[in-house]
Amino acid sequence: MTKPGRGHWRSRIGFIWAAAGSAVGLGNIWRFPYMAGENGGSIFVLVYLGCVLLLGLPVMIAEVMLGKATQSNPVGAFRALAGRHSPWQLVGFMGVLAAFVILSFYSVVAGWCLDFLYKTVTGVFRPGHTMEEVTRIFEQLLASPRPQIAFHGVFMLLTVGIVVAGVQKGLERWNKILMPALIVILLVLVGYGLTQPGGAPAMQFMLRADPSKLTAKTVLAAMGQCFFSLSLGMGAMLTYGSYMRREDRIPTAAAWVVAMDTGIALLAGFAVFPIVFTFGQSPQGGPGLVFKALPAAFLQMPGGTAVALAFFVLLLFAALTSSISLLEVITAYFVDEYQMPRRTAATMFGLVCFLMGVGCAYSGGYLDFLDQLQSNYLLPFGALLISLFAGWRLDKTVAREEFAGTRYARLHGAWRVCVRFVCPILVLLIFLNATGLLAKLFGP
Ligand code: TRP
Repeated sequence: MTKPGRGHWRSRIGFIWAAAGSAVGLGNIWRFPYMAGENGGSIFVLVYLGCVLLLGLPVMIAEVMLGKATQSNPVGAFRALAGRHSPWQLVGFMGVLAAFVILSFYSVVAGWCLDFLYKTVTGVFRPGHTMEEVTRIFEQLLASPRPQIAFHGVFMLLTVGIVVAGVQKGLERWNKILMPALIVILLVLVGYGLTQPGGAPAMQFMLRADPSKLTAKTVLAAMGQCFFSLSLGMGAMLTYGSYMRREDRIPTAAAWVVAMDTGIALLAGFAVFPIVFTFGQSPQGGPGLVFKALPAAFLQMPGGTAVALAFFVLLLFAALTSSISLLEVITAYFVDEYQMPRRTAATMFGLVCFLMGVGCAYSGGYLDFLDQLQSNYLLPFGALLISLFAGWRLDKTVAREEFAGTRYARLHGAWRVCVRFVCPILVLLIFLNATGLLAKLFGP
């Protein structure tokens, strides 16, 4: 039975689109290329793909399962399954905390997109601008808190507005049209980039893995990116799973979402690096990489202004469908647990995230700190506990039923091994390795 009084997706693919909407966002287009650039390119890509298969997919299934089984927010889900006084509820709390951390800097970066739209419309960016000019304009933005805060505020208002409107009206509608459009425009960019002089070196950079560049830091970065990009480890997918209808099956849906998210991240990489190399820039451009490279390409290509507008509008929508999933975690928690009106919860905590994010406009170091906090600690730790819980505490039959009758039925056993052993151990090893503890414990 589905609980009365709680919203549900209207169709089987309602969940897939909303979950893909949450997954696909700045993480794919802004963060993936810059992380790959800073961590050795192809080797990062390779490790990332490994993480997606061994960690991302199983944890996605586990997390959605906890939500669907309880039809509850993250805290309520662990309480329902583990008991009222169980420490497992802390996993839910940690998720809500992570949502605050992520949303506060996410909205600042989304604000950069708004600023680009504004500058394209008002003619600050003009066709023919070189990479140097684009870089100068972007760095000027980073040095001015006021416009950053203003656009951060606008983006947060949009997010709050959609979350207030509620599950079905707010979340389910947009992705179907806008995500395919984003894919099309990325394909155009990839096509453009590959015909440029930087195309060949970019392919090498993305594809020819050099194992000598493999470091503990690269692996940690890839793991964090995997959880961040798939919206895992803090209850966003759990919350979306809680709106799933009983009759819908999880493994198929999860596989779709993971495939879509990974495909779009790779496309973004193949779109960005040809441009970076064509203009002789370093791939280690940091958080500004994409914001310098893409506009520079737009302004050089024929009809570039229109492409730039289309691209940033679509990126903005992708960011919005992600940010609403973050605010939704916070909102669902306060609505379910404290019977707070939806409108009040979304508005109040949207404001809190806005205030927490303001510091990012003054200091890139603070933005970086929040980002590292979520990707290196909060999400991996959350994912670790979620997989342990689904593997060891959750009633076996719940998972078996989810796999039964899908084309993944035979993978039930493999999934179970993953969430019981592979995921927890891998996350722990990667974490200990990167902090140097592993070497201390077992080193010579
Ligand atoms: N996955 C989103 C992106 O790639 C960001 C995001 C939305 C997220 N909700 C999340 C990340 C929940 C972690 C947890 O842009």
